[in-house]
Amino acid sequence: MPLKLIREDITKLSCDAVVNAANQTLLGGGGVDGAIHKAAGKELLAECRTLGGCKTGEAKLTKGYNLPAKYVIHTVGPRWRDGEHGEEELLRSCYRNSLAVAKEHNFESVAFPLISSGVYGYPKDQALKVAVDEITAFLLENEMLVYVVIYDKSSFRIGAKLFDDIAAFIDDKYVDEHFEFNFRRRSENLGAYDGAQESEPLIGETNILPPMPMPMQQATVTPYAKASLDDALKQIDESFSDMLLRKIDEKGMTDAECYKKANIDRKHFSKIRSDRLYKPSKTTALAFAIALELPLAETKDMLMKAGYALSHSNKFDIIVEYFITNGNYNVYEINEALFAFDQSLLGV
Ligand code: APR
Repeated sequence: MPLKLIREDITKLSCDAVVNAANQTLLGGGGVDGAIHKAAGKELLAECRTLGGCKTGEAKLTKGYNLPAKYVIHTVGPRWRDGEHGEEELLRSCYRNSLAVAKEHNFESVAFPLISSGVYGYPKDQALKVAVDEITAFLLENEMLVYVVIYDKSSFRIGAKLFDDIAAFIDDKYVDEHFEFNFRRRSENLGAYDGAQESEPLIGETNILPPMPMPMQQATVTPYAKASLDDALKQIDESFSDMLLRKIDEKGMTDAECYKKANIDRKHFSKIRSDRLYKPSKTTALAFAIALELPLAETKDMLMKAGYALSHSNKFDIIVEYFITNGNYNVYEINEALFAFDQSLLGV
């Protein structure tokens, strides 16, 4: 995925360049500036002294020295006043100019902190939207792996109502799954569950384990069932890749529109397109389902073609299911919720 939102200390990332949220002197400070200078060592400051400072919105390059990253792109974000003094445009130019420096030096990977969202007071959710906006615009025309590093949870603010709704949804789904699992495990341990329901079924208890499949020679397939079985078998021939390309056509999207919206890079997509039996990761398959805005049943079909299912025993899947069930395909909002529940994020 060309744009990844990650929770990390940027000084730990070994990408081609990390971006520093500096001040105009470039002589160090607190926050991420202080952390980068501390991790890089004195030589970074010595090189910064030779740069003659940096204007707000501009970007300058130095080596990374003791950092795992090879280079540091220093940029100076705007101080937030009230949003009426050109702050957004200056913040956008920080991302554009830093990405231009990365492109000029053929960097393959770069990591951004949320510029201006700390000491400079830029509202974090707006700072994140600007970052995602500018980076995705750049990635429409360029190939690069770009990380946006979220250092603290307050970067994602999720409404209390939405949080409670999702928590209730998780409880519903999660409890069912774990209830069945625990009951089965308890029964098997007690030897009580031998397929026959000796004890009274618990309230709402249904036959947990699927009935033993009938040996095929006993199975009788009526002509009607046989026909639908043939149709079903035809569907089985459709691979994940076939289904994806069919859905893109049905939605009237171009390939590029779809894979960009799914935050999948061109190389990865061409692999999927050229190999009908390609097996994507679950996150990739989900990202396409979200980009295509598939209803839940079709999302499950698409996942199944890739050999996966939406599981009610993990919160990530339940949260994504919540958004699909509510017809909300805004990856940004899905990520805010995933982040609020300490889950990994979908590519933006
Ligand atoms: N890794 C990743 N992100 C970090 C780290 C870190 N180690 N430390 C802080 N951050 C995050 C903050 O949580 C915030 O979201 O970086 C974002 C930017 O915050 P600041 O570092 O305070 O930068 P900024 O708001 O742009 O203010 C710049 O602060 O440190 C001084 O010298 C700097 O004067 C300049 C001003």
